[in-house]
Amino acid sequence: MDKFIIHGGAKLNGKVKVEGAKNSSLALMPATLLTCGTSVLKNTPKLKDVFTMIGLLETLGVKTAFADHTLTIKIEKLKSQDAPYEYVKKMRASVYVLGPLLAKYGKAKVSMPGGCAWGPRPINLHLEGLKKLGAEIDLEEGYIIAKSKRLIGTEINFEKKSVGATGNLLMAATLARGTTIINNSAMEPEITNLVQFLNKMGAKISGKNTQQLVIEGVDELKPARIDTISDRIEAGTLLVAGAITNGKIELSECNTTHIKSIIQKLEECGCKILVNNDIITLDASDSEIIASDVSTSEYPGFPTDMQAQWIALMSVAKGNSKVTDNIYIDRFNHVPELLRLGASIKMDKNTASISGVKKLKGAKVMSTDLRASASLVLAGLVAKGTTEVLRVYHLDRGYQFIDEKLKNLGANIKRVKGDEY
Ligand code: UD1
Repeated sequence: MDKFIIHGGAKLNGKVKVEGAKNSSLALMPATLLTCGTSVLKNTPKLKDVFTMIGLLETLGVKTAFADHTLTIKIEKLKSQDAPYEYVKKMRASVYVLGPLLAKYGKAKVSMPGGCAWGPRPINLHLEGLKKLGAEIDLEEGYIIAKSKRLIGTEINFEKKSVGATGNLLMAATLARGTTIINNSAMEPEITNLVQFLNKMGAKISGKNTQQLVIEGVDELKPARIDTISDRIEAGTLLVAGAITNGKIELSECNTTHIKSIIQKLEECGCKILVNNDIITLDASDSEIIASDVSTSEYPGFPTDMQAQWIALMSVAKGNSKVTDNIYIDRFNHVPELLRLGASIKMDKNTASISGVKKLKGAKVMSTDLRASASLVLAGLVAKGTTEVLRVYHLDRGYQFIDEKLKNLGANIKRVKGDEY
């Protein structure tokens, strides 16, 4: 397993490009299962999770080619409708194949995802919604066995907004007979990107960007081309890297509308931010970072996927702050590791109370999930001395060459291959 060695203290400076969004790709790729023929997904990031999804699709009999961030997916005849445990245990988003397989082939066998590093992550909303569309769902030996004749349009009222359940049911409902209404649907930009792709395939979905999606079922969908939106969490993480090091950085190919909540918070902290179309400049070179509270919520609120990175920033900010996660109440794996670096954080349920310290001090740290690992790298960038971030395969799941990007911005960061230590 690779690790990063970071010597903290360098102020980041320079330009960096934002990649395509992981969470869009992971929905767009399985959506192609609704079609036969060749679809083209542009701006696909080169990430471990994307390669895991490619592996899963190939297990089903799909052919893929991936060059220059363009992913071509060719479907002639599937050889299976089974998503094995070995994929789902690696990546929960594998469950996205359930809706399209069921809608197109009338059957799917998908391993039931277990808990994740920060606690339970149920999929009851996915399964209840599919049942409402007329599917029969059983659980056998850890697998969801779903069967159905043609799905039938219905009204689904989510008790809670869920990105995954909205995506899965959207895909399933496109081929249902009649109209499906999804109330209290997620409206994350990645869902809007999926709606755009499905409509290009010939689906009839309206109400995008609202909390109600209306899907008029069609008999068939055709392959299509789509541009993957830029990754708002990678953008946010890089901006925090600029802020925490009192640097000055420019991000290109960034959808700045999607990160308004993050920009607003960084400005509250004293960073100077300039937006010019898809370019954003953050200048924290002569600002002191001032503590600012954050409470996560669904889009357009502050994303839970930026909570860990924000706690790293607040750890060295001037003053006290509170960071509350309302989406995943147990998602605080990074806190004990940040304490090892000298941060001052107290937890009370889903709220971290942080007293900014003048200096963090390098240490060996590791985490068991993606964004927690990102927060440790950010902390390492300012910690005095050397920080070793172990198990960086979590970072490779969701950030394309993050070490290279940070190095190009002036960070003193080195990847050490697992077999070298
Ligand atoms: C997606 C993102 C993830 C992000 C999360 C919240 C992908 C691949 N992952 O995950 O990066 O952190 O959205 O923005 O896009 N819930 C239920 N029952 C369900 C489904 C969800 O109770 O059936 C709850 C969850 O426990 C959580 C909340 O709903 O409290 C939101 O989860 P959800 O939006 O579904 O997250 P994911 O789609 O798994």
